[in-house]
Amino acid sequence: MKAVGHRANLPITDPNALIDFDAPKPAPGPRDLLVRVAAVAINPVDWKVRTRFPLPAGETRILGWDACGTVEAAGAGVRRFRPGDQVYYAGSLVRPGSNAEFQAVDERIVGRKPKSLSVAEAAALPLTTITAWELLFDRLGVVRGGGRGQSLLVVGGAGGVGSILIQLARELTQLTIIATASRPETIQWCQQFGAHKVIDHTKPMADQQKTIGISQVELIAALTETEQHFPVLADVLKPQGRICVIDDPKAIDVNLLKRKSASLHWEFMFTRSMFETADIEAQATLLDEVSALVDAGRLRTTLGDHYGAINATNLRRAHAFIESGKAKGKVVLEGF
Ligand SMILES: NC(=O)c1ccc[n+]([C@@H]2O[C@H](COP(=O)([O-])OP(=O)(O)OC[C@H]3O[C@@H](n4cnc5c(N)ncnc54)[C@H](OP(=O)(O)O)[C@@H]3O)[C@@H](O)[C@H]2O)c1
Repeated sequence: MKAVGHRANLPITDPNALIDFDAPKPAPGPRDLLVRVAAVAINPVDWKVRTRFPLPAGETRILGWDACGTVEAAGAGVRRFRPGDQVYYAGSLVRPGSNAEFQAVDERIVGRKPKSLSVAEAAALPLTTITAWELLFDRLGVVRGGGRGQSLLVVGGAGGVGSILIQLARELTQLTIIATASRPETIQWCQQFGAHKVIDHTKPMADQQKTIGISQVELIAALTETEQHFPVLADVLKPQGRICVIDDPKAIDVNLLKRKSASLHWEFMFTRSMFETADIEAQATLLDEVSALVDAGRLRTTLGDHYGAINATNLRRAHAFIESGKAKGKVVLEGF
C-alpha cells in the first residue's frame, strides 16, 4: 500500500524529512478495524514525533493521528462496526499512523463519521475533539449545561484544539469564553466559533481582562506556549480555580498556584489508548456524540486549509505550516 513516513529525525527543510514508500497492508487484531483512509489532518504531534522520537535503524515510521475513512474489514471481536461503515478517529501514538492507504485501529477509540460532513471536513476533528472534550469535562470537571456565572480562558483559541474547545464550551456549557488570538483572521475565527471575548496573547493579558471586566477566571485551558504564559495565568486564575495544560512546558513554577489553592491538571489524549485504560471506550462514545452534534448543526468542522492529496510533498508543506505555529483550525489532506 502507499504510505508516507520518515527514517530519521530531520528538519522539514530536508527533502527526506518525509518520504513516499510502499508498506505492507496491516492485519487487523481481534478488536481492530482495517480502515481504508480517505482523508487525514495534521497536528503538532506529527512534527514533534518526526523530530524528537528516535527510530531503530532501517525502520520507516508512518506518522499521522487524524483520519476519516471506510471500514474494509473487522477483527473477530469487533462489535460496533461492519465493513462499509464510515468512521473518524485519531488512533494510537504507539501504533503506525494514518498517513497510509490502510490503517488498523482499535474500535474502542473510533467514532462514526458525521454524515453531514465531507471526509476532509470530518478528518479535521477527531484528535482535537478528544483533547478538548477530555480537558473540559474529565479534567476541569465542568458539568454539561453547567458553568453559569463562571469564565473559561482559552489560550491559543484559533488553533486546532482551541477551535473545537470554544465550540464545545459554547454549545454544551453556560461558561463565558475568553479566547486569545493575535491576528485579525484568528480573532475573527475565535468569534465565529463562539468566543464571547477575544484578547491578544502578544500584549499584557491581565490588563486586557480588566478592560473587558473579567479580571479573574475560574478555569483556564493552557493550550500552547504555557511556559511563556504561566505566571500571568496563575495571576488571572481565581482562588480555587483550575488550569489544564496540554503542551510541553519544560519548567513551570507550580508554587504560583499554592496561595490560591488552585489545581493543575494534565490532558494527554493518547493516555487512554496508550495504557488501554478501563474507560478507553469513552473516546468512541464522545466521538459518536460529537458526530451527532455536528449532524444536528450544533458543532462545525474546524477545517482551515486543504493541502491536496496525501503524499510526501504535500505533507512536508503541511508540517512546515503547523510547525510555524500560525495554524487557524486544521490542515487536511485527501486521497492518495
Ligand atoms: N496533550 C494533548 O493531548 C494534546 C492534544 C493536541 C495538541 N496538543 C499540543 O497542544 C498544543 C496546541 O495544539 P494545537 O493543535 O491547538 O496547535 P496549533 O493549531 O498549531 O495552534 C496554532 C495557534 O497557536 C496560537 N499561538 C501561537 N503562538 C502563541 C503564543 N505565544 N501564545 C498563545 N497562542 C499562540 C496561534 O494564534 P495566533 O496566530 O492568533 O497568534 C495559532 O492560531 C501543541 O503543543 C500540541 O502539541 C496536546
